[in-house]
Amino acid sequence: KSVWAVVPAAGNGSRMRADRPKQYLPLLGKPVIRHTLERLISHPKIQGVIVAVAEQDPFWSDLMLPDDWPVYLATGGSQRSDSVFNALFYLRQLTDDDPWVLVHDAARPCLRHTDIDRMLTQLAEDPVGGILGIPMTETVKRVNDNHRILETVNRDNLWRAATPQMFHLKHLLQALQQTIDAQCQVTDEASAMEYAGFQPKMVEGHADNLKITLPQDLELAALYLQRQGD
Ligand code: CTP
Ligand code: MG
Repeated sequence: KSVWAVVPAAGNGSRMRADRPKQYLPLLGKPVIRHTLERLISHPKIQGVIVAVAEQDPFWSDLMLPDDWPVYLATGGSQRSDSVFNALFYLRQLTDDDPWVLVHDAARPCLRHTDIDRMLTQLAEDPVGGILGIPMTETVKRVNDNHRILETVNRDNLWRAATPQMFHLKHLLQALQQTIDAQCQVTDEASAMEYAGFQPKMVEGHADNLKITLPQDLELAALYLQRQGD
C-alpha cells in the first residue's frame, strides 16, 4: 500500500502576530515549511506530498523548491479541515489505489523519521489508522469562567494530539465530508474519524514535534532542530 503526505499550510498564524503566516517565518536560515517538507520528502516510504496553500499566497513561490521534489499544490480553505479535504480530493485524482495518508501540519518542522517509522510499523495492518500524540505530564484542572478550579482531571488516559495523523484515504475523505455536511467543526483529522464512528489508535511520539503557534515556539524549534543533528 502506498503512503502519501498531506500538509495543510493555508492558515494565517494569527496567534503568532508576525508579518506573514508562521509557516513562512525563518527558522535556522530557511522557512519553517521547508524544514517540514524536507522531513517528509526525504522519508523513503513517502511517495509525495500534497500541500494546501491559501488562494492568494505571495510567499509560496518564493520557496523555489527543487523541481525534482514530488510536491503537488492544492487550494486551502477557510478551515483547516477544508484545506485537508481539498488536498485529499487532489490526491484521489492522482492515485488509483487507496493509499495511506499522513496529514502533517506545516507548522511542525521538527518531526523525526523515527516517529514516522513507528507510526508506519504500528499501524501497518490497522483497519482504521491513528495519530501521533504525547502523554500528559502536567496536572490538569478544569476551571469555570472565573478561573476557579472545578476539578482535577485524571490525566492517566489523557494525551496531547499531534500530527502526522495517518488514515486510509477513502475513509478520511468520507469522514471529512460528513463533518463538512453537518457543519461540525473539527480541529484534527482524528476528530472527523471519531465523528464517523471510527476509533483511531494513539501512537506515542517524541515531545520535540511541537507545533509552532506562539512567538516563543520558534526559539524552541531552533533548539530542537540543532539538538537532533547531534
Ligand atoms: N491550516 C490550513 N488551513 C486553514 C487553517 C489552518 O491549512 N484554514 C493549517 C496551518 O497552516 C497549520 C495547521 O493547519 O499548518 C495547524 O493550524 P494552526 O496551528 O491553527 O495554524 P493557523 O490557523 O495558521 O494559526 P492560528 O490558529 O494562530 O491563526
Ligand atoms: Mg488555526
